[in-house]
Amino acid sequence: MRTNYCAHLSTADLGQTVTLAGWVNRRRDFGAITFVDLRDRSGLVQLLFDGDSVGLEQAHTLNREDVVQVTGTVAERSADNVNPDMATGQIEIHVSALTILNRSKTPPFLVEGDGSDTTEETRLRYRYVDLRRETMQKSLAMRHRIAKSIRDYFSEQEFLEIETPNLTKSTPEGARDFLVPSRLHPGSFYALPQSPQLFKQLFMIGGMDRYYQIAKCFRDEALRADRQPEFTQLDMEMAFPNGKDEILEVLEGVFARIFKENLGLELSLPFPRLTHAEAMRRFGTDKPDLRFGMEIQDISTRVAECGFKVFSGAVASGGTVAGICAKGCASYSRSVLDQLQDIAVQAGAKGMAWLKVETDGINAPIAKFFDEGELKDLAKAFDAEAGDLILILAGQGIEAPLGALRLEIAKRENLAADEWNFLWVTDFPMFELNEEGSITSSHHPFTSPLDEDLDRLEAEPLNIASNAYDLVLNGTELGSGSIRIHQRELQERIFNLLGISAEEAELRFGFFLRALDYGAPPHGGFAFGLDRLVMLMAGMSSLRDVLAFPKTAAGVCLLTEAPMPVADEQLSELGLQTQSG
Ligand code: AMO
Repeated sequence: MRTNYCAHLSTADLGQTVTLAGWVNRRRDFGAITFVDLRDRSGLVQLLFDGDSVGLEQAHTLNREDVVQVTGTVAERSADNVNPDMATGQIEIHVSALTILNRSKTPPFLVEGDGSDTTEETRLRYRYVDLRRETMQKSLAMRHRIAKSIRDYFSEQEFLEIETPNLTKSTPEGARDFLVPSRLHPGSFYALPQSPQLFKQLFMIGGMDRYYQIAKCFRDEALRADRQPEFTQLDMEMAFPNGKDEILEVLEGVFARIFKENLGLELSLPFPRLTHAEAMRRFGTDKPDLRFGMEIQDISTRVAECGFKVFSGAVASGGTVAGICAKGCASYSRSVLDQLQDIAVQAGAKGMAWLKVETDGINAPIAKFFDEGELKDLAKAFDAEAGDLILILAGQGIEAPLGALRLEIAKRENLAADEWNFLWVTDFPMFELNEEGSITSSHHPFTSPLDEDLDRLEAEPLNIASNAYDLVLNGTELGSGSIRIHQRELQERIFNLLGISAEEAELRFGFFLRALDYGAPPHGGFAFGLDRLVMLMAGMSSLRDVLAFPKTAAGVCLLTEAPMPVADEQLSELGLQTQSG
C-alpha cells in the first residue's frame, strides 16, 4: 500500500513519486491550500494539497486520526516553510492522489501531545490511540531492541532459549499465586509461575548446561509504579559455574552489550560490589543509590557517655546512634525538618535529632546537652562544615530510616548525578523473620548458604549469609540470583528450617527433590526485570509506560476490563462457586 515510511524521506528523495499511508496528525487550511501532517511509525511528513491536487476537496474533510493513503511528489519546502524542529522539516509531499481508508471519531486526546491533556486512565482505556504517541512508540521499539541485544548476546555465549510452562505448580517467590482452575480435574488448580525458578534448575539437572528465557512471570502482590502482576524477566541459569564470579561476569557482559547497542554507552566493568551488611551499614538499604555519597556515620562510641540520655541510653541498651550530613542544608526550615522527621518515623525511627552547623557554632535544640568540645567533635565525625545539617537517629533498626532520609535529601537537593550506576550487593542473609515472626527465605528456598556458614545453619539461622546477589541500578533493584542448592540433603534441611514438614515438602516440591537425587550438577543463575530495565533506560518512572497493555494499581486492564465475572455455566463446568453464587 505504500512505497516509503513518512519520516524516512529527505531531500535525497526530491522529485520522487511516493505513496504513503498513515494517520492524519493535524490539518491546517489556508483557503486554496491545505497542509496535513501525515504520521506513521517512523514519524511525520507534511502533505500539501493545492489547486493541482486531486482530492483538495476531500482533504478539507480530513480530521485527526483519519487513515489515508496518498501519492505525490517529494518537493523542497519554500524557505519560510522550513521547520527545523521536524526531521522531515525541509520537504513536503505535493499530493496528486488521496484515498481515505478509514475515518476516525474525534480521538479522546491528542496523539501529538505529551499525554498531559488527559488522564492516565483515559490513555489506558484507549491504549490503541495512546500507542500512537511518540513516547510509547519509542519505548516499545527500545524494548524490542533491548530484547534483541539480550538474545544475540546469550546465543553467542552458548545459552539456549527454552520455554517453560505457564500452567504449572506454585513456584514460591514471596508473592501470592494466580490460580487457574482445571476443568478436567475439578477442585484442582494450576498456578501461574511467579518465575521459572524450578524449571530452570531442572534444565541444569537435565544437562542443558546454559539456559535463558525472556519469561512472563505472574505475581499477585501489592502493585506499585515498579511492579505489575504480569511482568517479564530475563531469566538465566548455568551449570558448573566458577562460583558466582563467572555468573556475574556473564551478566556484566549482557548489560555492557545492551547499553552499547541501545544508548551508545560503554559501561565500566566490572561493576562494584558491596556485601549486604556493608550496604545496610553505610547506606541503610540493600539497594543503595551510589550516584551520591552522604554515607551513614556511626557515632555510638562517641556518644556512649554523653549527657543526652536519648543517645547514651540507646547505646547502653544495645542500640546504635548514627546519622548523615546533608551538605549545605542548614537553611532548612522547621517545617522541612518536621517533614524529614516524619519520614524517619514512618520508616521505623522513634524520633530525629538535628544539628545545624553555622559559622558561629552549632544551632540545635539538643546542643544544651553537650559541651562545646563535644559539639565540635560531633561536627568532625560527620565532616560537617558551616552550612551543613546533621540528622541523627538513635535506637534499634535505624538503618532503614537513615536510608530513607538519605534518599529524601538527595531528592530535595537533586544530588543524583546523571549516570548509570550499577552495583552488586552480595551475601544476603539466608533467612529473615516475617511479620508473624517465623523464618522465611530472604531470596527463595533454593538458594545455597555460604559454605563457611553451613555448620551453623540450625544453630543460628538468622546469622547465616547466603550465596545470593542482587543487581542494583541507580537505587532500583534490577535483578536477583544465587548459587543454588544441588544436594537433596541440604535442600531438605532448608525446608525443615523454614518449617516445611517432610510431608508438605513432598507435596509441594517432591518432583524437584527427586530430581536432585539423579545427578544434579552445581549450578546458579539470575533473573532481572526486563520491564524495569526498559523503564530506566527509556527515562520513564512507571512500568505502565513501557508495557503495551499494563494493569492499573488496582490490577485492572482498563482496555479489556479484565478481570470480569464469568457465567454460572462456566463456573459449574469448572466445579466452582463464587461466594455470592
Ligand atoms: P526476584 O523475585 O528477585 O528473583 O525477581 C527478579 C526481578 O524481577 C523483577 N520483578 C518484577 N518486575 C515487575 N513487577 C513485579 N511484580 C516484579 N517482581 C519482580 C525485579 C526483580 O529484581 N527466580 C528468582 C531469580 C533467580 O534466583 O534466578 C527471582 O524471580 O526486577
